[in-house]
Amino acid sequence: LAQSESPGHWRQGEPPLENGFLPYLGCALKFGANPLEFLKEKQKKHGHIFTCHVAGKYIHFLTDPFSYHALMRQGKHLDWKKFHFATSAKAFGHGSIDPAEGNTTENFHQTFIRTLQGNALDALIEAMMENLQYVMLQSKAPKLQSNTWVTEGLYTFCCQVMFESGFLTLFGKELNSNSDKNLSSKQETERAHILNALENFKEFDKIFPALVAGLPIHLFKSAHSARERLGEALLHKNLLKRDNLSELVTLRMFLNDTLSTFDDMEKAKTHVAVLWASQANTIPATFWTLFYLLKNPEAMKAAAKEVQSVLESAEESISLNGKHISLNRKQLDNMPILDSIIKEAMRLSSASMTFRVAKEDFTLHLEDDFYNIRKDDIVALYPQLLHFDPEIYADPLTFKYDRFLNEKGEEKTDFYRNGRKLKYYYMPFGTGIAKCPGRLFAVHEIKQFLALIFSYFEIELVDSNVKCPSLDQSRAGLGILQPSNDVDFRYRLKRL
Ligand code: HEM
Repeated sequence: LAQSESPGHWRQGEPPLENGFLPYLGCALKFGANPLEFLKEKQKKHGHIFTCHVAGKYIHFLTDPFSYHALMRQGKHLDWKKFHFATSAKAFGHGSIDPAEGNTTENFHQTFIRTLQGNALDALIEAMMENLQYVMLQSKAPKLQSNTWVTEGLYTFCCQVMFESGFLTLFGKELNSNSDKNLSSKQETERAHILNALENFKEFDKIFPALVAGLPIHLFKSAHSARERLGEALLHKNLLKRDNLSELVTLRMFLNDTLSTFDDMEKAKTHVAVLWASQANTIPATFWTLFYLLKNPEAMKAAAKEVQSVLESAEESISLNGKHISLNRKQLDNMPILDSIIKEAMRLSSASMTFRVAKEDFTLHLEDDFYNIRKDDIVALYPQLLHFDPEIYADPLTFKYDRFLNEKGEEKTDFYRNGRKLKYYYMPFGTGIAKCPGRLFAVHEIKQFLALIFSYFEIELVDSNVKCPSLDQSRAGLGILQPSNDVDFRYRLKRL
């Protein structure tokens, strides 16, 4: 606070400072209203590096993509964990997960990599394929029976299907404790529990940006109780009543029990954090991918054709009499058009922010110049500046489904600025050491969702001229932005 109160904060050798007009909030209000416009304006005024005084903190923004690697290279002066640990504890309400503070010796980052990548990913993909079909075909069956069109909000649909399938994939199914009940009524009870969790998730997720900004959860009564109810559902004693828990959740339970001093509710809240991380970005990313496909018939045609040809070479047939389609990791990896479509949809909707905290006073060396950075200051990247740069992506606000494909129809990796090839041009999953460990699973699950939609349903927008919803800026910095309004679409089972 002492720093923030000092009007003469700037010193020789530091990046140019943007103080804002308000003594404590500094630039926070203008930044919050539209971060992209704010940063573009400051970039024009100050150049490629500048400092913003935001809510008592000094944040140095690096806006030149050729400087990004400087941040990665000078990691020894910068801490990525503290900020993540503190944010997670604040938002989800568990004690500190920083091993330095003594509650646990678990290395969370390693747990995530071990259980979301490598061999563990194959099992996740297999479970997700089964669960998506269960949700799309059985769980939604009452609506689909008459073979007439069902009209729904596209966001509502993506949210329900991805949450239900993703929840079952990570947290397994309820064990059949009540053996008197028949199968369909057990499934109905299970479904009601998951939809209940979805309602709690949405209620809590609404105030997530406020929690990250530092507001205490008790200001938000209904979101607070929603978070507690999610915690209740994920208590170890309740998880033990479930079958087919993922390796991620099984290992995390074991490490909670063996390496931490957390009480039962704190352990549960570390699972709420995993649930949130697995859903909060995936749901809007799925929405934007399907929305852009519905608005771009040429892209839809190319995507459907690619799925069909992969299904044919896998000798999978589509039927509605209970036999599910299975596509393994290798087959899903062989879909460059879907990859390009998902990337393009995320390029247009992602607003993540990379933060590093200075461990000590140090000199940040960029390409041609250097700057003094003080201990506890934040160095940040805002990759939406990169994603919307017309020099890198011509016509940046337009969805081009083949933007990430080269002439051979393979993944395109050469993007240029000022005639120079870029190392960093696409960053919805962050970068460097803290990069999202679930990124491979995320892309696979969206592909699986699309492949199944194309296989089982006819689908169209209610109004084919509907305008693209704007991005809800309230979550800027946190990942994929949600649409500010839902869009109606209709679907029905294909006649197979
Ligand atoms: C962290 C993006 C899906 C698990 C992150 C970060 C980003 C991100 C930007 C922070 C990285 C950083 O600070 O530099 C996304 C996007 C997704 C997605 C855009 C979907 C489209 C998933 C899924 C899972 C997952 C499906 C798990 C099943 C995690 C975890 C972290 C994380 C556990 C915290 C990692 C750590 O602090 O060690 N994600 N994510 N994410 N993500 Fe994802």
